[in-house]
Parts: sequence; C-alpha cells; structure tokens
Amino acid sequence: MTNYNIIRKLYYKQLDKYEQMKLASILFFLFLGFNFASAQHPVSGDFVAGKGSFLLNEKPFVIRAGELHYSRIPREYWDQRIKLCKAMGMNTICIYLFWNFHEQQQDIFDFTGQKDVVEFVHLIQKNGMYCILRPGPYVCAEWDMGGLPWWLLKKTDLQVRRMSDDFFMKRVNIYLNEAGKHLAPLQIQNGGPIIMVQVENEYGTWGDDQKYMETMRDNIRQAGFDKVQLLRCDWSSNFFHYKLDGAISALNFGAGSNIDDQFRKFKEMNPTSPLMCGEYWTGWFDQWGRPHETRDVSSFIGSLKDMMDRKISFSLYMAHGGTSFGQWAGANAPAYAPTTSSYDYNAPIDEAGTPTDKFYAIRDLLKNYLQEGEVLPDTPQNPEKTITIPTVSFVLTANLFDNLPVAKQSEKIQPMEFFDQGWGSILYRKEIPACNRTQTLTIKDVHDWATVFINGKAVGKLDRRKGENSLEIPVLKAKARLDILVEGMGRVNYGEAIIDRKGITDKVMLADKELKNWQVYNFPVDYAFQTKAKFAQKTAIGPAWYKATFNLNETGYTYLNMSSWGKGMVWMNGYNLGRFWKIGPTQTLCVPGCYLKKGLNEIIVLDIDKPTKMTVLGLNHPILDMIGKDDNKGQKQSKNLNLNGVNSVATGSFTAESGWNTVNLDEPLNGRYFCFEALNAQNPDDYSTSVAEFEIIGENGKAVSSLNWKVLFVDSEETEKAANGADKLFDLQESIIWQTKIGDKTTHPHQVVIDMSKEINVKGFRILPRTDKNNIGKVKDYRFYLQEKAFKIE
Ligand code: GLA
Repeated sequence: MTNYNIIRKLYYKQLDKYEQMKLASILFFLFLGFNFASAQHPVSGDFVAGKGSFLLNEKPFVIRAGELHYSRIPREYWDQRIKLCKAMGMNTICIYLFWNFHEQQQDIFDFTGQKDVVEFVHLIQKNGMYCILRPGPYVCAEWDMGGLPWWLLKKTDLQVRRMSDDFFMKRVNIYLNEAGKHLAPLQIQNGGPIIMVQVENEYGTWGDDQKYMETMRDNIRQAGFDKVQLLRCDWSSNFFHYKLDGAISALNFGAGSNIDDQFRKFKEMNPTSPLMCGEYWTGWFDQWGRPHETRDVSSFIGSLKDMMDRKISFSLYMAHGGTSFGQWAGANAPAYAPTTSSYDYNAPIDEAGTPTDKFYAIRDLLKNYLQEGEVLPDTPQNPEKTITIPTVSFVLTANLFDNLPVAKQSEKIQPMEFFDQGWGSILYRKEIPACNRTQTLTIKDVHDWATVFINGKAVGKLDRRKGENSLEIPVLKAKARLDILVEGMGRVNYGEAIIDRKGITDKVMLADKELKNWQVYNFPVDYAFQTKAKFAQKTAIGPAWYKATFNLNETGYTYLNMSSWGKGMVWMNGYNLGRFWKIGPTQTLCVPGCYLKKGLNEIIVLDIDKPTKMTVLGLNHPILDMIGKDDNKGQKQSKNLNLNGVNSVATGSFTAESGWNTVNLDEPLNGRYFCFEALNAQNPDDYSTSVAEFEIIGENGKAVSSLNWKVLFVDSEETEKAANGADKLFDLQESIIWQTKIGDKTTHPHQVVIDMSKEINVKGFRILPRTDKNNIGKVKDYRFYLQEKAFKIE
C-alpha cells in the first residue's frame, strides 16, 4: 500500500494493524529526520523573552553569545572565526551592522563581498548558531563616527541621535529599510538564525528622549523586523533614563564586575525580566600614546562564572576583535583619544584568529554549563599559519609636495567634508606677507594632527590630543608660502563630540588677523589615489610615499613592524592595512594571509612625519605594548598644589557601597576650577585612590558637559602600567578609572585639579567609585574645593 493510501485511510479511520505499525514507523523516521535537521541548523522557530528566562521554541534558553564584526575580519576567515566561537562555548553570534560601511556615499548601498553581511549571517546558521543583530543606526564600537556616515557632516547644523534633525531621521529610515531588505528574511520566525534585534546602542549614556527611542524601534519594525524579539542595552547606572516598550533590556559591563551589584537595581525595577549582559567586555581597546589595555583571565572568568551560576545570558564583547582596517578606527573624547587600528582588544581570539589562554579558560568553564544534549566541538584549525617576512627596503619615494592633486579654492577655511572628502589628509596653502617679528599662528581647531610649513620647511606640529592649537611663525624676510597639512584620525564614536569634522574646522589666525583665500588639496585614503604618485629613486623630503616590492614563497598572517616609521598609513597589494604612529602602543600592522600573494607583492607607505629607517619586516607576533617617542610634549606637569588659605566648599565621607554618590553644596556656587581631594581610603592601610567617574551638577540639576575640561594638576596617576590617567575621571566610561600609581608608596591626600574652561553655577557633584570587584583606592573621606580663579600650582 502506498503511503498516500495509508494517510487517506487514516483520515477515514480505516487502518488495520499492519498499516498502523507502518504509519508509526513513518512518523518515527519523520521525527528523527526533523530532529537531526534541527541539530544541524536552527529551523524556523520562535524566540521570546519569557518570565525569568528567554524561551527558544518555548524552552528556557541561556544565550552565550560572542561578538564578531564581519567588517574587521577578512571574508575568507568568517567561517573559521564563527566555528572558533562555537568551540569556545557560544551558541550565538552577536553582530553590529555598520551603516557607514554599507553607505559610504549617500544613496549608494553596498552589501557585497566583504560587506556581504547576509552571507555572514548564513554562515552563523550553517554552524548551528543563532544571531543577535545590532543595526544601530549608532553603534559606537570604536568605529569611525560610531557607524554614522561621514557625509552626514556636510550638513552644517547636523544633529545626530535626535528627533530634531529631520535630515538625520530621514537618512536613518532609508538605511534601516535597506538593512531590513537584506536581513529581515533571516529572523528566526522566517527560518533564519536572528533571535533578537537591538534598537540603537547604549542610548542611556547619551540622552533620555523616549520618543527618539520609540521612533527607532518603530523604524526597525517597519523595516521588516516585525516578528523578532527586540533588545536594548545600557548600563546599570542609566538604563532607567528612558523606557522602551516592546524591547527587553540588557546591561553592559566589564571584566571582573560584581554581578549582583550590576543587576540589583534592574531586578528591583524589572522583577520578571530575563537577565542578560549585552556586552561583557573581554578586554578593552587601545588608544594612541597610551599603554596597551589588558584584562586578566582570572577576574574575567570569575564574573563569567557568576553569570553562568545565575543563568544570566551574556554576549562577550569582543570574542575576537580583529582589525579596524583602513580608516575605520574611531576615537573617544573627552580628551580626544584616537583608537589604534589593531582591535585585538585582548580578546579570547587574537587578531590573526588564534585562540589565547582566555579562549581556553572560557571553553573550560562553559563546558560545565551546556544545554542538555549540547556537545562542544573541537577547536578548529586556523586556515592560515603565521609567517615572517625578511627586511624589505624602500628605494622608491614620492614627495607629497611634488605630487599635489588639483587644488580647490576656498575663501574660508573649511574641513574636508565640505570638499567631499571622507578620510585622509588635507593641505591648506596660502601666501603670507613678510614680517620682521615672529607671529603666533592659531588654528581653531586642528582635527587632528597638523604640520605647519613655511616655504616647504616644517616649523612645528600640533596635536589635538594635547589641546595644541598655536605655534610661532619665524621672522619672514620676504613673503612666504604657508602650508598646513592636517591628518584626520578616527572620528569620535562616543559622546557629544561625535560631530567631528576633519581638517581645520573653523578658522586660522595669524597674529590677530583671520587668514582667508586658501588653496586646498585633498589626499583621500583610496589605494587608486596613492598609485598616482610619481615614484622615483631619490631621497624623500618631508611627507612622502614610499614603495617597495618583495617576493614570497608562502603566504600567511604576518605583523608588519612599523616602529622605524613616523605616522601614516600602509597599503599592501592595494589593501589599506590601517594607521601606524611611532608613539605606539601598537607598533605593528596586522596583514591577513589572504592579502598576500605567492610571488610578487607590493607595499606603499604614506608617512606624513618622518621614518628613521625606510625598511619593514614581517613578524610572527604583534607588538601591541610599546610606547614610542612623542615629539609633542604637551603641557608640563606641575609639581605642587598649594591649598593654603583655600577653604573647601564640601567635605564628608563616602560609604563602602557601590554606585554613584551625590554631594550637594549647601548653596549653589560659581566656579571654573575645582579640586577633589581624597583624604583616605575605605581600607585604612590603603594609600591609593581610584575613582571611575566625576560629574559636576549644574544649575538645571544635570551633569555639565566635560568636553572642554582639562586636568591642571594631579599628584599621582597611572599612565605607564595602565591607561588610568586623571582624565579618565571625565571620559564618560564607567569601567575605566583614574588611579594613583600602582605599586608606588604614595601618601594621602590625593588631589586632582580640573579647569572646566568656563564659569559654572555648581549645585554639587556626583562621583562613581570603581565598579569592578576590586576595592583598592575606594575613597572614604574627601574635600571638594571650587574657585573662580585658578588654584596655586607651583
Ligand atoms: C560600549 C559600546 C561598544 C563598545 C564598547 C567598548 O559598550 O556599546 O560598541 O564601544 O563600549 O569597547
């Protein structure tokens, strides 16, 4: 009898015993097949935030996610990195979608090749994993402008992440619709692996406009993500700044955090919500000129275990950081601090895709917390070995000043965006008259690193990181050619400084006269542009391109040692590897094996400073932690703060409890300079001080902007063993602290003096102690001083 007949007879309830047995066996094999298939790939299903836990097809599910960025990993290795995450114990991959990666020019979208995010999500599914998609539009991520496209900046009064800018809101909508076209079919309810979609990113650190967040949520729904569970992420200190119906909330925090502290308030306010750490920071990113960041394995694993024991879902940010190739690395502010191109992040999987000790520690831990029936696969092989490349010497050079592109004329000086340039360097040129005395040249503002030339000779450099904006022009016997070459580094990706145009943003003054009528030359970062330079065998003078070729018998990952070069970018066989800068801490540029060729390879270096040796070589390991020589010295640190005769305006004691403390002054007071003085620590034997964040409460009861704050004095800060300088007090990153020098027998009181750059009516201040499990340096007794005039610093 045919199966069809059995089913027909079943319908008419006419089956005999034999037929009943045959039906049972068909159903059994169908069931087996179904289960086998579902073990291979997640099948169409459902995922929701239930009461107390997430539910995957109605069963409780703990998300163990690892974050990967398809844009930071060459496509050739996507599959291996996903497999590595699975072997580390992950069941989900979390990804950002980078708007500015896909729409590099307005209205031209690209979702192909390295930008084929659909293929990346397919690979996640093929590997039997789920996906959390975070399309922004703002993503942060140490990525140029936090994922927002640079061309938005052509609008002079642009506002971002606010309803008040129609243009921004309209462009977001267009982008999200485009994202939906590609990715909405991959929601789990449609048979894809996407179990959640995140709305915006850590909006609580930026604002409290509920309407904006609701509009973003609705945009995402309308873009086709109409079935999937929505998510939002914030911090334990700010998740309550806004509400978003229809989205589950996750909290983000760093390695070694106290898990119960992190979730305490959230649980009180959301007693039935499943708990999730939306980003558990495995390490941290590096900034130029500051020590390499690491997070030790044991404190990282400790808090991860705490989460697993409490069945708290998590996403590891980053599981594997990779590289911010080309111009994509962003920056933080205040103080302006560009991020290095290496996004190694001290993550469990290193830049070249090799598992580290952290990887094996995580795998070892998570094997004890798998879902029923789940088996950890073996750790996959890296498809590329790591190779070394012998010294390559550069003999071909091309001076930048001999290879100028066609000039544009501009009456007023303007940043590069207004010349339709997204990234790179820009040269402003004009003739200035003879002058028999030196004159001050003031540039408002340098974004980000400028060299000033008179008749082709460098007379000084200005570095935005150090707040430098003026220098002396020597006596000019005759009229002279003034050239200002400005390199734009990463656009700020976090906080209110995100509107960050590059080049010179406002004006240039010579003595007290504004200079006008400029010739402007644009130097974009595309490979095609670099190849236009006319190379010859001669000694380079000033900023220049250098070209060399070399042969390889085998390819593999390598790290180009750039430590003998000044500052610039490198193109390997046409691929822009990213930025180098002698100040470190990164001294190498990661070259993925797939960027190299057997046989002849070509390398072009653009050095806008000066190499000491024109050679490179490939190492089999990165140099991530070597601070180099910095010509721009910055302000000289003063030695002593004299508080004699100065009265504090607030004094008191903090308890050992975690979280923000608010101190109100007896009455509001005006002041521009303040000093915070820690008199002792919670532990009487502890001679150090550590503070995560410090805010001044202004007239309206809200924190005033710290964008233009400057540290004028600090008696001790750790800037060598770790990036824990006093400016970390107002960097808006709660997990990054100011601490006094580690290991030094410093003594209390510890003091820091800050210039707020303008007078403020101060109601009080807020202070956040360190948020990790470590209690070292937690302040007990304090004094707070506020003055209209500067403190005596000698
Ligand atoms: C936040 C952001 C991320 C990233 C991390 C720091 O959590 O959401 O995009 O910037 O900080 O690496």
